[in-house]
Amino acid sequence: MREYKAFINNEFIENGQWLEIINPTTLKPAGRVTALKQKDIENAYKSARYAQKSWEKVDLLKRIAFINEFKNLIIKNQNEIAQIMSEEIAKNLQDSLGEVLRTVEIIDYTLEEAKRIDPKAMTGEGMGAKNKIGIFSRVAKGVILAISPFNYPFNLALAKIIPALVMGNSVVFKPATAGSLVGAYMGKLAFEAKLPKGIFNVVTGRGSEVGDLITSNPEIDMISFTGSVNVGNQIRKNGSTTDLVLELGGKDPALVLDDINLEKYANEIISGAFGYSGQRCTAIKRVFVFDNYADKLVEILKEKITKLSVGNPEDNASITPVIDVKSSDFIQGLIDDAKTKGAQVVIGDKRQNNLMWPTLLDHVKTDMRIAWEEPFGPVLPILRINSIEEMIEIANKSNFGLQASIFCQDISTALNVAKQIEVGTININSKSQRGPDCFPFLGIKDSGEGVQGIRESLLSMTRYRGIVINY
Ligand code: NAP
Ligand code: G3P
Repeated sequence: MREYKAFINNEFIENGQWLEIINPTTLKPAGRVTALKQKDIENAYKSARYAQKSWEKVDLLKRIAFINEFKNLIIKNQNEIAQIMSEEIAKNLQDSLGEVLRTVEIIDYTLEEAKRIDPKAMTGEGMGAKNKIGIFSRVAKGVILAISPFNYPFNLALAKIIPALVMGNSVVFKPATAGSLVGAYMGKLAFEAKLPKGIFNVVTGRGSEVGDLITSNPEIDMISFTGSVNVGNQIRKNGSTTDLVLELGGKDPALVLDDINLEKYANEIISGAFGYSGQRCTAIKRVFVFDNYADKLVEILKEKITKLSVGNPEDNASITPVIDVKSSDFIQGLIDDAKTKGAQVVIGDKRQNNLMWPTLLDHVKTDMRIAWEEPFGPVLPILRINSIEEMIEIANKSNFGLQASIFCQDISTALNVAKQIEVGTININSKSQRGPDCFPFLGIKDSGEGVQGIRESLLSMTRYRGIVINY
């Protein structure tokens, strides 16, 4: 069994209290991490505050060199990291390794981009102040709290931690409980990389028990959170005087506006809906299609779903157990509600504990919960809708506004529809997705506030410092 301790001020913390991490595949313990108490958490913030003052004075190239040491250890330990992740969140091994390598790419790009966060210089001439020159540099905000979700425990954590550190902030990092093993492992790597004392702290503990303590500490200058709407809203309350970037849930629609290339559209829809068993905020979570080719699309989707392997992460199955039994009960509830109200199960609707077979539901109507709620699991509803206007209306009725996909060969129609859909990003002829990671990534409405993406994260974790020269 794995055991990793919380990491505060470059010390590994053991206090006799442990948080057990359950392997979703075996439903047995995968390991344990320290369950921190109030005093430890307060110490993490004190250390982060103290360390930040010297860290921001370290030259940018030196900060980059420190982070490169850390990155090199990630590369060296890539298989171990993927293995841990696969054990604690049941992401298949190939995808877990893919997540680690994608993170290395993000780190490289972030470190390069940090060199290009140039100051802005301007004169006051346009406002009648011709003898003033202002130089506005981006400087660290201070102490950043990074909170990551279970589904990308390595990537979404470091996509916050690295931009914060390179710009001269210190970090308090709270991993998701499922994801804490790999989260605490980062503390071990930071120690080996000899990151300066106190700039990176890993605080482990169950969110429902220590979440308020972690998010309401007065030392926090900014919170970067990815997770559910409920917890996001709780953080809005606790951190109301703190800068916030929140990336929350989604109910991304795919609008299929022609039948010119249904085979290709179906490939994108399958990969969008069932990647990591549907546990992606950007997963395609509803498909809108015209009746006259809906049967054909459903047939193609069914054929492709039949070929998805279902099983264990170590065998690289496409569909692996969802994160816990409680989640699979919730997903099953959505399926059952749809069936009761007349939806047709095309394939799936089978489970063993939290291993759920990919499910395609046809003839879904707007009175069914699955039309609106985020399952975060391998289930895809098809809504047959016969006008583009109605598709847009139903897409926009959702409380979520993360992304959407439009499948259509006529670019004028696609662009015209894209402009009317109320989400952060619309993907024409591809699944919804966060990457490439240099793009801005954002949700509107309940899907979040603020923007992530490499450059945007560097900006959101800094503020202007203006120096005005009068002559
Ligand atoms: P979650 O339950 O909201 O947890 C997210 C993080 O918040 C975890 O680290 C969790 O710790 C912590 N947390 C829980 N309660 C807290 C509290 N009261 N105060 C502070 N932190 C608290 O979400 P999840 O189940 O990990 O992830 C699934 C959700 O995240 C889905 O809704 C999905 O759409 C969304 N998501 C969005 C994006 C995006 O970029 N838009 C990306 C990924 C996921 P514990 O695990 O210890 O509870
Ligand atoms: O759910 C996490 C979110 O950020 C999605 O990332 O790359 O799967 O679209 P991706």
